[in-house]
Amino acid sequence: MTAREFRKAAAARLRAAGVPDPAREADGLLAKALGVPRAAALGETGALPPGVVTRGEAFVARRCDGWSFAHVVGEREFYGLALEVTEDVLAPRPETEILVGRALALLKLDAARGEMGSDPITVADVGTGSGAIACAVAANAPGVRVLATDVSPAAVEVARRNAARCGVADRVEVLVGDLGGPLRRAGAAGRVALLCANLPYVARRDAASLPPEVRREPEVAVFGTEEDGLGFVRNLLRDLPVLLASGGAALLEIGAGQESAARAAIEAAGLGFVAVHPDLAGIPRVVEVRR
Ligand SMILES: C[S@@+](CC[C@H](N)C(=O)[O-])C[C@H]1O[C@@H](n2cnc3c(N)ncnc32)[C@H](O)[C@@H]1O
Repeated sequence: MTAREFRKAAAARLRAAGVPDPAREADGLLAKALGVPRAAALGETGALPPGVVTRGEAFVARRCDGWSFAHVVGEREFYGLALEVTEDVLAPRPETEILVGRALALLKLDAARGEMGSDPITVADVGTGSGAIACAVAANAPGVRVLATDVSPAAVEVARRNAARCGVADRVEVLVGDLGGPLRRAGAAGRVALLCANLPYVARRDAASLPPEVRREPEVAVFGTEEDGLGFVRNLLRDLPVLLASGGAALLEIGAGQESAARAAIEAAGLGFVAVHPDLAGIPRVVEVRR
């Protein structure tokens, strides 16, 4: 089979399965099957080795079966890092890069004001999943050590592998447990200068309207508790006065339409609301608070 034939057949199958932008998806899957960058694969028109065809067809079949591109190929680029993605973790999203960008800006600002204490500065990433936030912060802020936590032991394994893959395993410790529990057990209560969290916040009542890729992701990574999905965020906010160092900050990702509920929870926890940062679509996405 030639690359041209592969692309045509793959795009037709993907279109029939309702995958958006099937021609682009077919190019991307072929590139991954070839093990080359997308741009290099675009120039391929000739005969493909049988192994590449087999791998590419398996990719197309899984994509048609509702798995995300990242889950099919086992990888997703996040903040310039190539992270491993398995069935046990959420594929990190571009909107979470907003949280990382703000985290790095805060670390710089607060370090300049002398508000972060001495090195190493302790940052926490609660609900780390693939380790995306923890790895991106550690890779871009050398004076920081990150305590990353997740309730899923399988996700913790993926996060540890990603920390090693990104060369930050010496500064990223990944702990298993519920919300702030592992931070307390690690003796970090009252010492966290910056806490980041992208916890599950989708309400169960919205399950039917989720795209197929999201329905394939682990339930524990997608659905929040309480009617509006913000239960984990509320529980963590209640714990922040104990976890954060005096003057410490937190950045929490929320979903569309959750801003006012999040602000009420921040107030109820006795924390200071600083700002809400929009994502690229203008949706209020990351709330920033101070102890
Ligand atoms: C939305 S995913 C985000 C993963 C990653 N932080 C990211 O941004 O790509 C939420 C993660 O929180 C974890 N999680 C769910 N409930 C939790 C809890 N009670 N305590 C700690 N982690 C939890 C899930 O296992 C999942 O990995």
